Amino acid sequence: MPKLKSLSLALVASLVSLSVSTAEAAPSNLQVFYYNQSDPFIANFNQDLLEQAKLNNVNVKSYDATDDAFKQSEQIDLVLSKKNNNDPLLLNLVDTSYAKTIAQNLRESNSAPIIFFNRAVDPQVIKSNATLWYIGADAFSSGIYQTEILIDYLKSHQGSDRNQNGVYDLVLLKGEANHTDAIERTQATFDSLNESGLDYKVDFTANANWDFQKAFDSMDRAISKLTINNIDAVICNNDAMALGAIMALNQYGYNLKDGDAKKFIPVVGIDAIPDALEAIRDGRMLGTVCNDSERMSQIALQIINLNTRDENLVSKTIGLPVKDHQIIVPYLKVQTKAR
Ligand code: GAL
Repeated sequence: MPKLKSLSLALVASLVSLSVSTAEAAPSNLQVFYYNQSDPFIANFNQDLLEQAKLNNVNVKSYDATDDAFKQSEQIDLVLSKKNNNDPLLLNLVDTSYAKTIAQNLRESNSAPIIFFNRAVDPQVIKSNATLWYIGADAFSSGIYQTEILIDYLKSHQGSDRNQNGVYDLVLLKGEANHTDAIERTQATFDSLNESGLDYKVDFTANANWDFQKAFDSMDRAISKLTINNIDAVICNNDAMALGAIMALNQYGYNLKDGDAKKFIPVVGIDAIPDALEAIRDGRMLGTVCNDSERMSQIALQIINLNTRDENLVSKTIGLPVKDHQIIVPYLKVQTKAR
């Protein structure tokens, strides 16, 4: 055999063996740590994830921290301290600063992807180890989208300044005080309102911590304080709170299913959870923005299947830009029902 040919064959053989040894088999187990599974958006994400996992033959074991940071650190530490553990992890942290501790505790043998999602973690932590990834969304744009939905409605509906005082009187229900999504969505709401040229006043605001019941209580207080005739619209940092606010309005005969159009106060949320989509369909709610949990869970499974550290490969596979192992999934405006 000519020398050149045998050399190139040897090269091919060594490349083949190289690719065999570096391309590890896709893992078949996934461990997921949720901050709180009673949060409807998280419960919805979990449904999406289980569907994706089934399609990919991946077994999912999940842990619910019930919004308790200490409990979650114990759950995570127990898994990471198991010697032979090399399952991929999906982490939705109660306390995002715990990401640093997790990164510091990783061993050489932890080669499978570890993916943070939903709650933004420090980008420096993600950069500190090539197995780490973050899947999130640009919260600011969701605040813009939901406020645009409301502004379009107010501008196109005569009589939307219900007490005709020349000012739109608003109620604003926010998520957890220190949560990036709550801060950015609220800021975006103010920026969009200021740019809209509408005269508005936020007459009542509260942190209802993403929660249906807390939002119901807050809205009840808002109505008692302002009276129902002096509220023109309700903006909520998420759908669970929008649905709680709607329930409070229902007590006053407002925003009922297929109800009187004169007894409708526009309420907007974010997430597009199934209950909110139903409320929009039956005329109780004005609109929402899709926080795309289906796409996020699909991307998580794609990274796990690739079992790679290569962000160009991930970017090509998922069809989205990836920078420093951070993936930002776009929000989608959800069509509102005209009232
Ligand atoms: C947000 C979502 C909220 C809540 C929160 C929890 O992205 O819109 O509904 O689930 O995450 O971190």
